[in-house]
Amino acid sequence: MKEIEIYGSTGRSKILVGESLENLKNYISNENVVLITDENVSKHYRNQFPEHPLITLGTGETVKTLDTAAYIYQNLLDMNAQRSTVLVGIGGGIVCDITGFVASTYLRGISFGFVSSTLLSQVDASVGGKNGVNFKGYKNMVGVFNQPAFVICDMNLLKTLPEKDLLCGFAEIVKHAAIEDAALFEYLENNYKKALSLDYNVIERLVYDSVVIKSSVVNRDEKEKGERRKLNFGHTLGHAIEKTTGIPHGEAVSLGMVFAASLSVKRGLLSSGEEKQISALLKNLKLPTTVDIDRKKVIEALNKDKKREGDGIHFVLLDGIGKAVIEEISISELHRALDNIL
Ligand SMILES: NC(=O)c1ccc[n+]([C@@H]2O[C@H](COP(=O)([O-])OP(=O)(O)OC[C@H]3O[C@@H](n4cnc5c(N)ncnc54)[C@H](O)[C@@H]3O)[C@@H](O)[C@H]2O)c1
Ligand SMILES: [Zn+2]
Repeated sequence: MKEIEIYGSTGRSKILVGESLENLKNYISNENVVLITDENVSKHYRNQFPEHPLITLGTGETVKTLDTAAYIYQNLLDMNAQRSTVLVGIGGGIVCDITGFVASTYLRGISFGFVSSTLLSQVDASVGGKNGVNFKGYKNMVGVFNQPAFVICDMNLLKTLPEKDLLCGFAEIVKHAAIEDAALFEYLENNYKKALSLDYNVIERLVYDSVVIKSSVVNRDEKEKGERRKLNFGHTLGHAIEKTTGIPHGEAVSLGMVFAASLSVKRGLLSSGEEKQISALLKNLKLPTTVDIDRKKVIEALNKDKKREGDGIHFVLLDGIGKAVIEEISISELHRALDNIL
């Protein structure tokens, strides 16, 4: 087991890579604890949960709402949960985001931790202290920055994860490697088959390196004033594609990364050889690199992007594999570049 620390403005967060759900009790001993999970995770792992009151949520993005938060507040009130109560979310990004949000607001904030059960939440969602819910169809519109006391990343839980959810996690790992860590990128190129078959040592290295990358970025820029924006690599176009087509987040981000790589080549930052390496790695990881969609709708969604300022959009580009830069791209340059992938 390996431990990584985040020093957030609201406190320290310990991320435990390779710790197991069975040992959760060691992190919450003698405390008033309420567990929050979802139906799928409960179905597979309920028998491994420690004996504490449990709130079970439905699944999917539509449960990540203020109504669900209100439902949990009501349950906490009924259980007479106090300031000393600790909330533990056991699940993927949705359970963790809601748990963190509810814990940060109930009684003006109680302590919380996560057992992260999807690859995406282990490498991304449960690291970094962003907690929130969707509002009126806008993702993560309402939320807070607040660090969980601990995050357990138990890689054994990934065995029951559907493949499409696994691939979403791989997309974020490729993102981390591309923006910050050429050695991790090369490791992925050499070990993608083992990664796909969930070879324990390979997955542990991928999760650990990803958490190190994300947490070091967060340690330098917790509130996303500058450097943390790098983590949006592939996400500007990715979100627009996700919105217009409804394809899974990871697939949309894969397309977004291919696009950002081609823009980087056009700007003379990345070589076309490196661009091909990125596409090849994504393909090897069963992620898409081209898509057939309505350009107009994607451009409309891009125009609404919250990162848009003035005439252009702030875009994360690559100055070589392993080094991200943020540059402003004009809408007309975007239009031209979209031809390559759409
Ligand atoms: N807070 C952040 O910084 C941050 C970062 C990235 C993403 N997110 C959020 O994370 C969410 C997506 O997270 P996700 O991809 O983990 O989705 P998710 O929580 O919906 O989990 C995916 C699916 O897998 C199921 N599941 C979870 N663990 C399982 C297991 N071990 N075995 C079998 N099934 C399991 C879930 O029930 C669900 O159906 C989005 O809402 C996104 O906004 C947050
Ligand atoms: Zn993402």
